[in-house]
Amino acid sequence: MRCSVPIAAVFAAGAFALPARVQPRADSDGHSHDTTPWDEGATKDFWIHDSCNATETTQLRKGLADAVTLADHAKQHILRFGNSSEHYRKYFGDAPSAEAIGNYERVVSGDRGNALFRCDNPDGNCNQPEWGGHWRGSNATNETVICPLSYSTRRPLEQLCALGYTVAGSETNTYFGSDLLHRLYHMPAFGEDHVEHFAEGYAGALELAETNSSYATHDSDILQYFALDVYAYDIAVPGVGCAGTVDETASSMETPTSTASTTSTSAQSPSSFVTEPPTPVTAGAANGVTSAPQDCHTHAGGDVHCV
Ligand SMILES: *[C@@H]1O[C@H](CO)[C@@H](O)[C@H](O)[C@H]1NC(C)=O
Ligand SMILES: *[C@@H]1O[C@H](CO)[C@@H](O)[C@H](O)[C@H]1NC(C)=O
Ligand SMILES: *[C@@H]1O[C@H](CO)[C@@H](O)[C@H](O)[C@H]1NC(C)=O
Ligand SMILES: *[C@@H]1O[C@H](CO)[C@@H](O)[C@H](O)[C@H]1NC(C)=O
Ligand SMILES: *[C@@H]1O[C@H](CO)[C@@H](O)[C@H](O)[C@H]1NC(C)=O
Ligand SMILES: [Zn+2]
Repeated sequence: MRCSVPIAAVFAAGAFALPARVQPRADSDGHSHDTTPWDEGATKDFWIHDSCNATETTQLRKGLADAVTLADHAKQHILRFGNSSEHYRKYFGDAPSAEAIGNYERVVSGDRGNALFRCDNPDGNCNQPEWGGHWRGSNATNETVICPLSYSTRRPLEQLCALGYTVAGSETNTYFGSDLLHRLYHMPAFGEDHVEHFAEGYAGALELAETNSSYATHDSDILQYFALDVYAYDIAVPGVGCAGTVDETASSMETPTSTASTTSTSAQSPSSFVTEPPTPVTAGAANGVTSAPQDCHTHAGGDVHCV
């Protein structure tokens, strides 16, 4: 007799009926099997500590969702175009794409159980007026503190390309999403101690892509630049984006101007990715990275990360 229930309905009903822990069942061979779901104990949401108040929690959840949106689109762009994307070649050179895809995908789909965001000030670093937050390093390697400054300054992804922002000329932490992408990569669960800082500044990032591309696909800043650039070009301002020019990084790192022009990539349609040569690289300034005590690096704007 033909089954009258659509297969999709059977699957759906099965999914809803699945309890958190199901009883062992005897197989036809008489052996019993533990049918605990393979992913029991998975953590699907980012952990936000009780020290975050209601609005901080809301903003953090939105910022983390923006980080996932950026990472997910970056991955989708690579899966669609591979290295025939001019954007891909600009940031990752001739490196195979799997590492970049994987570093984005871990943010999109990785387990969130080993990454805690907190809003108190356990190490006292938020007392310094310029600090937006910090990874707790050896004090608590799976924890990141987000200081009050972040909640009043970091922008939502909806503002990408607005207010004078350009990828080349502005800080990567302009947007909460890219800022948190950076912070996620410092935590072992998302960066695996493999996503690190190799390039300095935007010009340094483009140079690394050209000269040492196997490092580009696990460079924290380059992963952010690429995600911002392709989201800007594909989604925020389709076919235009706001790549900016390398030269302006030297003159206006802190205060990008609204007249910043876009690079030659901006007027191209996706179909021209295959034929366009890579964007030429010219000299630019370093990203305001200064040295800090211990094994910490301080980014412009007071973001300190310790290794
Ligand atoms: C693009 O990837 C292909 C392999 O899929 C490789 O043969 C080719 O050299 C790559 N081109 C560039 C410019 O990286
Ligand atoms: C770790 O804790 C010590 C002592 O409280 C503090 O001096 C140090 O700055 C902390 N490290 C980080 C990365 O916050
Ligand atoms: C939560 O903390 C922030 C400081 O980060 C503060 O500005 C805000 O007013 C607080 N929200 C509420 C609802 O108290
Ligand atoms: C931190 O996360 C790692 C995995 O990323 C895990 O192995 C480790 O147990 C965690 N440490 C703590 C103290 O939670
Ligand atoms: C590539 O970059 C890494 C990290 O900065 C560096 O250690 C290595 O020497 C570079 N290799 C070349 C060939 O430049
Ligand atoms: Zn960092």
